[in-house]
Amino acid sequence: MAKFYVTTPIYYVNDVPHIGHSYTTTTADALARWHRLVGDEVMFLTGTDEHGLKVQRSAEENGLTPQQQADNTSKRFSQTWTALSIEPDQFIRTTEPRHHEAVGKLLSKIKENGYIEKGSYAGNYCVGCEAYYTDADLVEGNCPIHERPVEWLEEDNYFFKLSAFEDRLREWINSGAIRPAGKASEALGIVELGLDDVSITRTSIDWGVQVPWDEDHVFYVWYDALINYVTAIGYGQDSPEFADWWANSHHLIGKDILRFHCVYWPAMLMAAGLEPPKHVDVHGFLLLGGKKLSKSGLTQIHPEDLIGEFGIDGFRYHFLRDVSFGPDSDFSYEQMVERYNTDLANTLGNLLSRVITVVGKKCNGVAPGSQADSPLAELAEKTVNIAAEAWNSTAPSVALDATWHLIRETNAYLGESEPWKMEEGSAEVSAVLGTALEVLRLAAILASPALVNTAPQIWQAIGLEGSPTDNVLDLDYKWGQYQGGAQLTAIEPLFPRIKPQA
Ligand code: MSP
Repeated sequence: MAKFYVTTPIYYVNDVPHIGHSYTTTTADALARWHRLVGDEVMFLTGTDEHGLKVQRSAEENGLTPQQQADNTSKRFSQTWTALSIEPDQFIRTTEPRHHEAVGKLLSKIKENGYIEKGSYAGNYCVGCEAYYTDADLVEGNCPIHERPVEWLEEDNYFFKLSAFEDRLREWINSGAIRPAGKASEALGIVELGLDDVSITRTSIDWGVQVPWDEDHVFYVWYDALINYVTAIGYGQDSPEFADWWANSHHLIGKDILRFHCVYWPAMLMAAGLEPPKHVDVHGFLLLGGKKLSKSGLTQIHPEDLIGEFGIDGFRYHFLRDVSFGPDSDFSYEQMVERYNTDLANTLGNLLSRVITVVGKKCNGVAPGSQADSPLAELAEKTVNIAAEAWNSTAPSVALDATWHLIRETNAYLGESEPWKMEEGSAEVSAVLGTALEVLRLAAILASPALVNTAPQIWQAIGLEGSPTDNVLDLDYKWGQYQGGAQLTAIEPLFPRIKPQA
C-alpha cells in the first residue's frame, strides 16, 4: 500500500483561525480523503506553533501565561477543524514533550555533524514574522509584510551553516520537488543570491525549546516549528515507520513561508542526514479587496461566520473549487453565493431531484441499472482520469471542475432526451435514467473529498448502501456499475438555494 503523508503549516496561537488558515487545512483534508479513497495509507498532520516572541507578547496583552494562551487558542483551532469536518490523523502542538525531544535530537545531530557554531547577531527584527530583515528588505523602514516598524535586536546565538548547502539545495529544487514551477524558481533565486549562515537560537526570550547543550538559549521559533513535521511521525523515537512516512511527505504552505520550507528546512534535514521533503506545494494568498487576510493585518472572517449559511460542504466546496491552488485569489462573498447556487443547488441538486422524480413517475420508483452503452460513458471515464491527475498535482479545483462538467453534461443530456416525455416502463426511459444514476454514483465518489457530508446522502438517495468511500476507487474505472433495483423516494433538497444577504 502506498503511503501519503500530508501536512499543513502549524498555526501561530497568537490569534484565532481565519479563512486563510482554513483554506490550506481544508485542502490538506481533501487531499487526505482522496488518497484514502484510492487506497493509499494516509497520515494527515496539522497543529499549532506555540513558541516565540509573538505568542509571548500576545499572552502578555491578554493577561495570560504563554501556556494558557497556547492552550486556549490551540483548542480554538481544533474546534474549528471539527466544525469544518476536517479530520487530521494527528494534531501536533509544539509544546508537547515529544516535540521538545525531537527538536533536541535533530538539532544536536546537526551540531554533531559540524553545522552549528556559536556567534553573535544584530539586525532588524519583525515580531509579526518572527524573522530578521536586511535594510534592503525593508519598505520605508517597515516590515515588507506587516508594514510596521521593525525592532533592532542584538544577541549571542548559535548559527546554522546554511551556506554549506547551496549546491545540494540547487539540486533538490531542480528535481521538481517544489510546485508550482514558478515557486521553485523563487526558491532557486534565493539560493542564487548566496546564502548566509542563519541564527537559530535566542537568549532574549525563554518561551521556546531549550537548547540541549546550552541552557541560556532557546531555539528560535522557526527552527523548532519546522521540526514538527518529523516529530509527528516518530523522529528520534526509533519508529520503524518513520522512514516510509518521511519518504512520502507533502507539505502544503502559503507563499510567505517559502524561504523557511524551501531553503532552510531542506538544508536542516540534509545537515541532520535526512532526505528533504518529497514535495512542497505552495499556494498564494486569499485577498479581500486586494489586501492579504493574514498575519497581524488581518480581517476578521472566521470559518464559523460562513458555515451557518453555506453549510460545511458549501464552505469546503467553495474554497476547493473556486480558489485554484497556486496564485493569489480574491475572496468574495458574492462569488461564494454564486458558486453554491450554480454548482450545488442547481447543477448537482437538480440532477438528483430530477432523476428521483422521473424514476418515480416513469419507473414506479424503481431505479433502472446503468447499461454498458451510454453517450456519457467515455466522458465519465475521462473524468476519473482528469480528477486523479489533478489530485496528484494538488489541484482540487481542476478535479472538481471536471466532475461538475460531467454533471452539467448529464443535465444537458436529460434536457435533450426528455425522459419525462417517454413511455412509462420503456427500455428507452430506463437507458436514460440508468445513465444519469451512474453519473450520480460516480459524482458522489469523486466529490466526496469536498462534500464529506452530502456525498453519502446522495449515495443513499440513489438507493446505495453505506457510503461512497466504503470501497477503494479503481482508477481504471469502467462505465456502468450502477446496479439498479432500489426503490427511490423524494428527499429534501440537499443544497437549498441561498439568497445573498443585502
Ligand atoms: N507558524 C508559522 C508556520 C510554521 S510551519 C512549520 C506561520 N503561521 S501563520 O499562522 O502565520 O500562517 C500559517 C499559514 O497560513 C501560512 O501558510 C500562511 O501563508 C497562511 N495564511 C495566512 N494568511 C493567509 C491568507 N490570507 N491566505 C492564504 N493563506 C494564508 O506562518
